[in-house]
Amino acid sequence: MSVKDKLNKDLIPSHIAIIMDGNGRWAARHGNARIFGHEHGVEAVRSVVEGASEVGVRHLTLYAFSTENWARPKEEVNALMSLLVHAIEQETGKLNKNNVRLGVIGDVEQFPLEVKDKLFKCINNLKTNTGLHLILALSYGSRWEIIEAVRKVADYIKQGSVLPENITNEFFESFLSTKGIPDPELLIRTSGEYRISNFLLWQIAYTELCFVEKLWPDFRKEDLFEAILEFQARERRFGKTSEQILS
Ligand code: IPE
Ligand code: IPE
Ligand code: MG
Repeated sequence: MSVKDKLNKDLIPSHIAIIMDGNGRWAARHGNARIFGHEHGVEAVRSVVEGASEVGVRHLTLYAFSTENWARPKEEVNALMSLLVHAIEQETGKLNKNNVRLGVIGDVEQFPLEVKDKLFKCINNLKTNTGLHLILALSYGSRWEIIEAVRKVADYIKQGSVLPENITNEFFESFLSTKGIPDPELLIRTSGEYRISNFLLWQIAYTELCFVEKLWPDFRKEDLFEAILEFQARERRFGKTSEQILS
């Protein structure tokens, strides 16, 4: 029986988020420059998008470039930008065939014009699709996102449109870039690092975390199914007792 067959179809997380880490180390292990690892990371993305669609995941958020990644050597940042443009162009057809809708979260204004152009064209081409919602986190950082939200809330208060005592979780969330998207039930990080690196800090308050040793370019849909299987064996208590959950 394959891992996919073992999955409880009624308990598939509707939103999975992935920190795709380990490209540089993968390249080094193969005696190559870091960008070689990023290039091979695209194959992992392809497989995971396919797998997520197959088992009925509704939203898949992939952390592809953080606000802190801008501080990497210029050559790596430039190479990542070109790879992004290339991957978007190359994958749009397949994504469309698989009925995938594309979205983006992050400070995309920081991106070169060509990247923004290609990205928004692709998003537009796929906008009527009804299958998996693939969300790319690009130039994304939680602290950036939360500060942006706080600024907007402060504006509302200044204009007298809302009273501080009326600020609820729901009101605050409506200013986050994930507005309208449910919180991820499952977060996966590859490469054996046990940290969050400024990813979806507000949204993962009750998310199940899954850390895997594999480096991102080696990750495939079967690994995604393994993580979902592990998720399905967890008891999510949300602060309650086990007895309350089981009753
Ligand atoms: C993840 O792989 C991709 C990005 C952050 C863009 P890394 O490039 O961080 O690879 P390692 O962690 O150095 O191996
Ligand atoms: C996190 O990976 C960001 C992405 C995967 C895009 P990093 O490699 O940048 O994280 P740190 O620096 O190891 O925490
Ligand atoms: Mg890394």
